[in-house]
Amino acid sequence: MAGNADQATAPRDAERSEAGGWGAGLRQEQPALDLGADLGPADPAAYTTRKPIPEPMPTDRHGPARIIAMANQKGGVGKTTTTINLGAALAEYGRRVLLVDFDPQGALSVGLGANPHNLDMSVYNVLLQDDVAVEDVLIKTNVAGLHVMPANIDLSAAEIQLVTEVAREMALARVLRTVRKEYDFILIDCQPSLGLLAINALTCADGVLIPLECEFFSLRGVALLLDTIDKVRERLNFDLELEGILATMYDSRTTHCRQVLQRVVEAFGDKVYQTVITKTVKFPESNVAGAPITTLDPSSSGARNYRQLAREVIAAQAERD
Ligand SMILES: Nc1ncnc2c1ncn2[C@@H]1O[C@H](COP(=O)(O)OP(=O)(O)OP(=O)(O)O)[C@@H](O)[C@H]1O
Ligand SMILES: [Mg+2]
Repeated sequence: MAGNADQATAPRDAERSEAGGWGAGLRQEQPALDLGADLGPADPAAYTTRKPIPEPMPTDRHGPARIIAMANQKGGVGKTTTTINLGAALAEYGRRVLLVDFDPQGALSVGLGANPHNLDMSVYNVLLQDDVAVEDVLIKTNVAGLHVMPANIDLSAAEIQLVTEVAREMALARVLRTVRKEYDFILIDCQPSLGLLAINALTCADGVLIPLECEFFSLRGVALLLDTIDKVRERLNFDLELEGILATMYDSRTTHCRQVLQRVVEAFGDKVYQTVITKTVKFPESNVAGAPITTLDPSSSGARNYRQLAREVIAAQAERD
């Protein structure tokens, strides 16, 4: 547990939302994080097992999809890994899932076995050419019910070309409107930046899922991300929600990781998923193999983590319906 003094100054949820959303709450937390305050011994186990997560009900009705953007302008925090493996786990539970690669690096496409250099068409073409439909670009993966809209370096040009378009922030929303009814979830893998592509993703999303690496500086920059989410909510997408915060690359053996998780839970409360993604070399290995960990190594801890996350995401959606 963190020291009592920290707890006494930590803003409660209600105060936090009155004081200007999650961004404001987090900024109050940040000095302690930045200054390396003594965080005290931590045991997040009580939090991560706080309530049972129900098994998803089978479904034969599909759509309209909940659109979730995986966003964090910090690089290498697990956005792409989460998009692939949460998507695959949701599909295992019988949900129809579309993954959108919205990063010119094309890591999501590669992680699902597509070669970005060999693509005739990609998300770039659907965004900027009226005569290209989503169906022309979609790739079916080896996981039943899991489709991907791939990207490659062409997408970096879209950021520049869109600037002169009417409603430039809405380009992805226009594209996804046509296929939303066919899927249960659409997950958008954002690039590590808060540029026009990320704004497009936030503008068409129902929720933002923020992966946070369990390391000391992970919360740096999150205030800026939350401010951006607030701005998009005020100006472009009034219904945008913070879907959840996901702790990634967690190693329970280190006090440091446990302390960071403890802090994240203090800062964001119930917005933090109970599921925590453990650190394992299986993830980099699965990238190389071009398949989700859920199919490559179905009984591994990583696969179990993402299945549990999928159950949380489905349960949250069931509560909304
Ligand atoms: N839980 C984990 N344990 C160990 N390694 C992980 C884990 N999650 C992701 N990785 C590895 O960390 C690296 C970065 O992950 P990933 O590509 O998912 O992050 P990202 O946020 O999408 O990065 P970028 O901002 O560059 O797009 C990858 O090599 C990935 O395999
Ligand atoms: Mg990525």
